[in-house]
Amino acid sequence: MEGNDVTLVILGATGDLTRRLLMPAIYRLFVRAQWQPRHIVGYGRSEWTDERFREHLEKSLKEFAREDFERKSWKELAARLTYRPGELHAEHLQGLAELVEGPAIFYLALPPGLFGEAAEALGQAGLHREDDGWRRIVIEKPFGSDLESALALHRQIHRYWQESQVYRIDHYLGKETVQNLMVFRFANRFIEPVWNAAHVEQVQITVAETLGLEGRWRYYDQAGALRDMLQNHLMQLFTLTAMEPPAVWHPEVLRDHKVEVLRAVRPIPETAVERFAARGQYAAGTVQGQQVPGYREEPNIPRDSRTETFAAVKFFVDTWRWKGVPFYLRSGKRLRADYSEVAIGFREVPTHLFRQTPLEGLSANWLIFRLKPSECIDLYAWARAPGLQLNARHLVLSAPFRQDDEPEFSAYEQLLLDVVRGDRTHFLRHDEVEWAWRVLDPVLKAWQHGAPEPYAAGGEGPTGQHRILEPGHVWRPIG
Ligand code: BG6
Repeated sequence: MEGNDVTLVILGATGDLTRRLLMPAIYRLFVRAQWQPRHIVGYGRSEWTDERFREHLEKSLKEFAREDFERKSWKELAARLTYRPGELHAEHLQGLAELVEGPAIFYLALPPGLFGEAAEALGQAGLHREDDGWRRIVIEKPFGSDLESALALHRQIHRYWQESQVYRIDHYLGKETVQNLMVFRFANRFIEPVWNAAHVEQVQITVAETLGLEGRWRYYDQAGALRDMLQNHLMQLFTLTAMEPPAVWHPEVLRDHKVEVLRAVRPIPETAVERFAARGQYAAGTVQGQQVPGYREEPNIPRDSRTETFAAVKFFVDTWRWKGVPFYLRSGKRLRADYSEVAIGFREVPTHLFRQTPLEGLSANWLIFRLKPSECIDLYAWARAPGLQLNARHLVLSAPFRQDDEPEFSAYEQLLLDVVRGDRTHFLRHDEVEWAWRVLDPVLKAWQHGAPEPYAAGGEGPTGQHRILEPGHVWRPIG
């Protein structure tokens, strides 16, 4: 089977990412015989033995892959696991050389601040060399914390690794519903004629979460919603919605088209950021019936923290296709519901022939790609209202993305298999990362001053988000 001769090296093997997401994905692929790596080497600072590593993973899998866990396959997988303690220094990493034979993946399940150092140390140890099989390195967002640090990281990685060896994960690109944006757009003839400024009035991209910090205060208080969600996940939803149709299905062509969108975003004027971006920070409130503390009352968060937990921005894409259409992007924590969608709002028809009950302030026709809570495609349309009058009323044509018995594959399962196959379609190219930072740079700069507006946990976010909307537009409700 493809990829069964591959060695997977996990740097940061005792950490949270490995335990919660990576190993469960590997285990599921293993059980279904979709990928059974020759050897998995865990590497970390803790002085663990192979046995301790296996026990740790067994416990984690029982927790995070519970429904799939069974003894026999675990025993088979466990037999392929090795652990090596060490630091991120070339001398220590050299010790891995004897364990790594043939094609190999180096997965950096490390804090983002260590990516550059680790990539370089692997290179110094010669592990990037493809003498006896390909070598690939995997890192996951965030890639830097602004343009400058992203460029520095890029230089550090490329000291030894070729761009074609680097797989940058944004797990949204591994979501089936996100990939569906491309399939639905480019496999249906009826979409393209209306997918432009002549017919589309606005686009709203929302990723709302009920979750708070989940113990990630150290990272989150440095990052905030703009860096944590908007610069990457929402930017992906945005570029996939706005890009031109590629003529061929090829990773480089696809990524060229996404970069093209980012390059065409009208720069946000540094002096008018207020009109294009809004931020908020949750205060105490009730989320789905549960009383929760405000952000500043969370453990370890400074009482005067100015980190935003909600961010909204407005982009205009100055292309023939999109000139004048606002793209609104927003994401926040501790909101009313777990609710994510890409919503395309269409323009009104030129004349209203029938008595219609308007949707308050919202466009009449929406095409919605919903990721959460349910995975579906909704089309809001007018139809005749039953009764003796020829009136129109709204109906929603709704299609679930998945039938009940169709299994769901996690983003990590999708993306790991892509790394094994060498398919870089759903990974970020360095210029994509850089342009995403460039576009947001004026906002990052402006937000160094002032403070986010408080919003009650469990609500729809700060009132300031309405300020950035064009006249006549309103945000779609969350949930
Ligand atoms: C992560 C962010 O990248 O994505 C988290 O760091 C966020 O803060 C998560 O909760 C959301 O992912 P998903 O797949 O649950 O929408």
